[in-house]
Amino acid sequence: MVGGKRRIPFAPTPHDIISKILSIANPNPDDKLYDLGSGDGRILIGAAQEYKCEAIGIESNPELYRLSLQKCKKNNVNAKIILGNFYEYSLRDADIVFLYLLPEALEDLKPNLLTLKRGARIICHDFPIPGWKIDEVHKVYSYESGRKHTIYLYKVK
Ligand SMILES: C[S@@+](CC[C@H](N)C(=O)[O-])C[C@H]1O[C@@H](n2cnc3c(N)ncnc32)[C@H](O)[C@@H]1O
Repeated sequence: MVGGKRRIPFAPTPHDIISKILSIANPNPDDKLYDLGSGDGRILIGAAQEYKCEAIGIESNPELYRLSLQKCKKNNVNAKIILGNFYEYSLRDADIVFLYLLPEALEDLKPNLLTLKRGARIICHDFPIPGWKIDEVHKVYSYESGRKHTIYLYKVK
């Protein structure tokens, strides 16, 4: 396990809601989309395939990192995936940041998120950023998980 202030489990976003989540962020082909804690790469693959945007993942678990590289290769997706601790990477060039992380990790990420450029969007799955003003809330039902997932959108002003 590489770095990381806290241990966060791998709880993947269900495949059947990835398209809907990405449509909320609506990436352009020249956008850079980051998934912090990119797991098996499914968000990156969806973003690159459906929106042709640049997809960048940072994942601290070496097994998931390797799995995500394999999945990208199998899907013919050219995502950039870094084996590392997302707290240590700059987000200054990000247009969209996807976060499926626990509230404590979101709290710790605030200094990094505050460096995002104007116009950037943050998408949070199930857990909002503590204390931050939310721009949009969407409820998305997943047949795969059998429950509603909440998607929070933040627009950097
Ligand atoms: C809830 S899972 C979400 C996976 C993926 N984003 C998705 O939505 O399917 C959180 C992921 O964050 C990774 N992670 C936790 N702390 C991390 C850190 N400090 N740096 C990089 N990855 C981390 C975990 O290994 C796990 O794969």
